[in-house]
Amino acid sequence: MNQDSWTAVDGYLAGALLASDPVLEQALRSSDAAGLPAIQVSPLQGKLLHLLARAQGARRILEIGTLGGYSAIWLGRALPADGRLVTLEMDARHAEVAQANIDHAGLSRIVHLRLGPALETLPRLVDEGAGPFDLVFIDADKALIPEYFTWSLRLAQAGSMIIVDNVVRGGAVLDASSGDPDVQGLRRFNEQLSTEPRVTATALQTVGGKGWDGFTLALMIAQEWG
Ligand code: SAH
Ligand code: DHB
Ligand code: MG
Repeated sequence: MNQDSWTAVDGYLAGALLASDPVLEQALRSSDAAGLPAIQVSPLQGKLLHLLARAQGARRILEIGTLGGYSAIWLGRALPADGRLVTLEMDARHAEVAQANIDHAGLSRIVHLRLGPALETLPRLVDEGAGPFDLVFIDADKALIPEYFTWSLRLAQAGSMIIVDNVVRGGAVLDASSGDPDVQGLRRFNEQLSTEPRVTATALQTVGGKGWDGFTLALMIAQEWG
């Protein structure tokens, strides 16, 4: 098996399981036209996030890393009409494209975009009492995943699910001596998980159109439960 087969199977499964979706397709086209990098979750992964949010009955979602709003639309659509998704983005151009896509998806009352580096906007969310969030999707710069995870714990509660994208990076995560700050961020995150009593976690490797990568899923538990 190789990248071509993974991409072909992704296409086959998406064709079988996903309805054609003009809003999401337009979001991808406008992101591409604006020159944004095509690093959003795949359609099947977007639906995975959507289904997890629905299965959990999520009412408040936090996303770190908006890009053109593609995953925000998948997640926002999982929320009830009085639900809220806060999505954090530091690139003004990405945020502008994302806001247009969110508006076009009819989600402007549910999805709230905050512009700025996440290490600045996360403490503000804590100060505002914006949490607790039922689901957090961490998908920004990988070097700072441990810091985003720590803030996410402050904004979550028992029962909250924290999902982290890109935890495998083509196997680069294996290299303990890597000079890549993204890889070091992933490895620090795994050390953090191994000693954090408030969560229980697993990770899932993925192949498909986006290559070889993976997600970590961490469920926040009440400390008394052990
Ligand atoms: N979740 C999106 C993809 C996000 S790509 C989707 O699947 O559709 C990562 C995004 O994180 C980029 O738009 C990048 O500008 C943003 N980002 C990178 N560093 C950041 C930071 N420190 N604070 C906030 N956003 C950041
Ligand atoms: C990159 C970032 C992502 O969030 C992703 O899912 C894939 C690639 C990147 O920065 O290259
Ligand atoms: Mg990602």
